[in-house]
Amino acid sequence: MNSQNLFHPRKADMDYFELITHSPEQTQNLGMHIGKLALPGDTYLLVGDLGSGKTCLTQGIARGLGIEEYVLSPSFVVVRELHGRLPLYHIDLFRLEIEEIIDLGLDDYLYGKGVCVVEWAEKGLSALPLENLLIQISYLSAIDRSFQFKPSGKRYLEMINQLKSFSVK
Ligand SMILES: Nc1ncnc2c1ncn2[C@@H]1O[C@H](COP(=O)(O)OP(=O)(O)OP(=O)(O)O)[C@@H](O)[C@H]1O
Ligand SMILES: [Mg+2]
Repeated sequence: MNSQNLFHPRKADMDYFELITHSPEQTQNLGMHIGKLALPGDTYLLVGDLGSGKTCLTQGIARGLGIEEYVLSPSFVVVRELHGRLPLYHIDLFRLEIEEIIDLGLDDYLYGKGVCVVEWAEKGLSALPLENLLIQISYLSAIDRSFQFKPSGKRYLEMINQLKSFSVK
């Protein structure tokens, strides 16, 4: 199956939009804006190739949540827990198969009061909340990245409406 087609929004969720950043700093600023809009229980699913900018965006989300600590890729630990205005659960599914993801029992994170940011979310879609904000990142050039925001559920439709007023800088 063509992986690009996996994430086409369902008909009811056609309200999505795209932003393009032209530097890692702009991506972090975008993340910071998302972190400021975040509410308890939010889940953001990051989908994009190696080096597309998932961790870079997460660094901004952490800053937007008031987290000072530097955010690294959690690849070797699956979940990193950081504390700001809300807890941030930074999850990386890169090395895992779906059975392992199910066995890990991430539900306390996924259905808790913090904010979950999941890198390589496509590896665990069936074990992740149905209501989520899917952020598909594409590499356009060495410094340009496209961010497509695809909401599932009312909360995230509202959130992307708030994000629409964001101007990249
Ligand atoms: N506009 C941009 N936005 C984000 N990163 C950018 C941009 N332009 C260049 N980069 C570079 O792309 C790389 C993104 O790395 P990052 O670790 O965020 O990717 P990732 O998607 O988390 O990768 P992985 O799949 O290995 O976890 C960094 O080296 C960053 O400097
Ligand atoms: Mg990463």
